[in-house]
Amino acid sequence: MAAATPTSYTDQVVVTDEVAEFSSEVVSEMRSHLAKYPADRSRSALIPLLFVIQRERGYIDNPGVNFLAKFLNLEVTDVWETATFYSMLNLRPVGRHHIQICKTLSCKIMGEPEITEHICSKLGIHPGETTEDGKFTVSLVECLGSCGTAPMMQIGFDYHEDLTTDKVDKILADCE
Ligand code: FES
Repeated sequence: MAAATPTSYTDQVVVTDEVAEFSSEVVSEMRSHLAKYPADRSRSALIPLLFVIQRERGYIDNPGVNFLAKFLNLEVTDVWETATFYSMLNLRPVGRHHIQICKTLSCKIMGEPEITEHICSKLGIHPGETTEDGKFTVSLVECLGSCGTAPMMQIGFDYHEDLTTDKVDKILADCE
């Protein structure tokens, strides 16, 4: 049985003052991202730095956000407003394979509901949930910019396009 799906992020986030700590290598990687932008435009480094937080902590968590706010001299809310806008930034832990199914118009018309139903019933979860073994998370996301090859989904950084249920079966079977 999969965990219940929170209805919104604010239902699940516990806001604390805890600040994440990172190794000197990770901090220096962050400084190298920061160095790509003018000194008075540090906010521009937010997305690459959020990706570092996600890689290091598994998702964008409250201590990671607090760290970034201090690191960039921003308000915590400045970091959250970016972190909560993009679907590629995960606000809770995800499975080893994060399946993001596009639910926007072209994909919807071309068969997204059937694809979503097929994947979810095969994995025994609903959108927003992770399988008990931590292998798969399914999310429904807005347009991923590949409308001409709808229906499509993204797993990790890879796009899978012109989906059919047979194609989906093969893709899932290939996930280690
Ligand atoms: S509508 Fe699905 S990729 Fe654009």
